[in-house]
Amino acid sequence: MEYIDLRSDTVTKPTPEMREAMAEAEVGDDVYRDDPTVNKLEEFAAEMLGKDAALFVPSGTMGNLIALLVHCQRGEEVIIGNQSHIYLNEAGGMSALGGIQPCPVQNQSDGTLALNDILASIRTEDVHHPVTRLICLENTQNICGGVPLTPEYTRQVGDLAQRNNLFLHIDGARIFNASVAQNVSVKELVSPADSVMFCLSKGLAAPIGSMLVGTGKFIARARHIRKMLGGGMRQAGIVAAAGIISLEKMTKRLAEDHSRAKKMADGLKQIEGLIVDAGSPHTNMIYLNLSEAVSIDAQQVTKKMKSLGVLVDPENARRFRLVTHYWIDDKAVEKTISAFQNALN
Ligand SMILES: Cc1ncc(COP(=O)(O)O)c(C=O)c1O
Repeated sequence: MEYIDLRSDTVTKPTPEMREAMAEAEVGDDVYRDDPTVNKLEEFAAEMLGKDAALFVPSGTMGNLIALLVHCQRGEEVIIGNQSHIYLNEAGGMSALGGIQPCPVQNQSDGTLALNDILASIRTEDVHHPVTRLICLENTQNICGGVPLTPEYTRQVGDLAQRNNLFLHIDGARIFNASVAQNVSVKELVSPADSVMFCLSKGLAAPIGSMLVGTGKFIARARHIRKMLGGGMRQAGIVAAAGIISLEKMTKRLAEDHSRAKKMADGLKQIEGLIVDAGSPHTNMIYLNLSEAVSIDAQQVTKKMKSLGVLVDPENARRFRLVTHYWIDDKAVEKTISAFQNALN
């Protein structure tokens, strides 16, 4: 059966155009910097984000880890959202591999870290304290609802970081969704940041890969650490070719995913037993709960939905996250709404 897959935008398979470009990609050994397709992708990414240089990495997790390892020394501290992907879902890499200590700050419901909370978390100079080195933001903030952070807020955090001699890293796995949702350029969104990671393999539909961007000096060091972590790839142009299409074409169509998410949410709101979060969706993610009147739990609903041809991801016993992407068309939106209706009957 062809499933409608709403579990994540990471499930996106490459488009036919990507497969063709991959088959025809000019390649070389990228560790020697000999792969023209990777070089083109890196130049393109740096230019789009308004930074000096970029590095192609196998995953968002590796991109974030490399950024943290470049910015911080062992025993130093990172101020980071307690609902952030880096803190919750990257296997403790910063601590295990970098000896870096997270200083978690509560994410507000709009995905931000309150400026006062950040300020209060900066360590004073004291022989007992770790040294605070870095602030991390996540845009869009996934767990808070796929909510985009504004350029004004990011600027405020950037100013705060500068005043306190700290670096700012953005986990921008879905930064292009944040840009489209607010009608603001990605360049403007990330200009206060020293480094940004963004993913090609999510809403941008590439099969593999993320980009890390920053200054030339930062990326030179990042390239070294990527090698150390075993992320130096050889004829990686095969996958970079898809990434170029992600940047050229897929960034321009994300508004479709957002409007389909909105249509889906509007339909789901009409179904008795479903409570869509207020304000959801902000981008391509819909968060919703089962009401108390529903006697079955999210696992059972998930099973029923699967039998009706729709894959969904339960967040907990009563909660779901649904994610729209390139392979979710208008028909899939309608089918999902009626599958939920059937599953709850
Ligand atoms: C916000 C965020 N950051 C980072 C990542 C990590 O990306 P990857 O799965 O490529 O390691 C994800 C993955 O879903 C994510 O949602």
